[in-house]
Amino acid sequence: MAATPDPLLTVSDVRRDFGGVRAVDGATFTALRGRITGLIGPNGAGKSTLMGVVAGAIKPSAGRIEYDGADVTGLPPHRIARRGMVRTFQLSAEFARLTVLENLLVAAPAQRGESLWGAELGRLYWGAGEDVLVGQARAVLDRFSMAPKEDELAGNLSGGQKRLLEIMRALMARPKMLLLDEPFAGVNPTLAREIERYLMDLRDEGLSMVMVEHELSVVERVCDPVVVMAQGRVIAEGAMADVRTRQEVLDAYLIG
Ligand SMILES: Nc1ncnc2c1ncn2[C@@H]1O[C@H](COP(=O)(O)OP(=O)(O)O)[C@@H](O)[C@H]1O
Ligand SMILES: [Mg+2]
Repeated sequence: MAATPDPLLTVSDVRRDFGGVRAVDGATFTALRGRITGLIGPNGAGKSTLMGVVAGAIKPSAGRIEYDGADVTGLPPHRIARRGMVRTFQLSAEFARLTVLENLLVAAPAQRGESLWGAELGRLYWGAGEDVLVGQARAVLDRFSMAPKEDELAGNLSGGQKRLLEIMRALMARPKMLLLDEPFAGVNPTLAREIERYLMDLRDEGLSMVMVEHELSVVERVCDPVVVMAQGRVIAEGAMADVRTRQEVLDAYLIG
């Protein structure tokens, strides 16, 4: 049996209040290196808020986020991204007016020397600049069978292709960990299975992920372990086959 990998992300007792609403109420979990950790639970459980806190977009009211051996609690998103933890973003209106290739180019980190990619390929970057970026973008496009769409305006893509572009944009930062909030929402089943395959391939190459997903069959196929939230708290953590039979998990889904 393979040894259990060590944690890349440790979330400890995170709380987040919005006025009188306690959206996240003392959440604790770990995400292991080289795994896709599932974050599931009924609507309003606090999953998106917790992902926002982990990514640095939402300040925690209390608690601690440790990523890759460092305390990143309260750091702004760009500083967390620079360390290799990157969240996918829904394409905003202005990105719809850029081509697919342009979208990837503007997503590349500005301070190349400090990014993971820059650390590996720093000399290349300083020498060749844009050409290297275009090459990197085209490699990403090829990998996801999106090369024919290179010059298409992002706004003209299908819902599923837009989700794929969001993932490709995140990959331009050469992340160690991806944070995905419902990456299959609004994606047709055929493309959803393709994206699922791509994510598993990336995982097999060592990319770690935390993924919020409501479709439990997808979670069962790709996520290990699974973290279950309800009413702002983590109520179960473990293999999907195990947590899905626990009474408190069944209750949470019934009560909502
Ligand atoms: N910006 C906000 N202001 C006020 N309440 C919020 C805000 N964001 C989330 N909430 C509340 O926090 C709770 C958790 O929401 P959310 O994190 O979106 O849950 P999930 O992603 O699990 O559906 C909900 O009650 C929601 O209404
Ligand atoms: Mg949500």
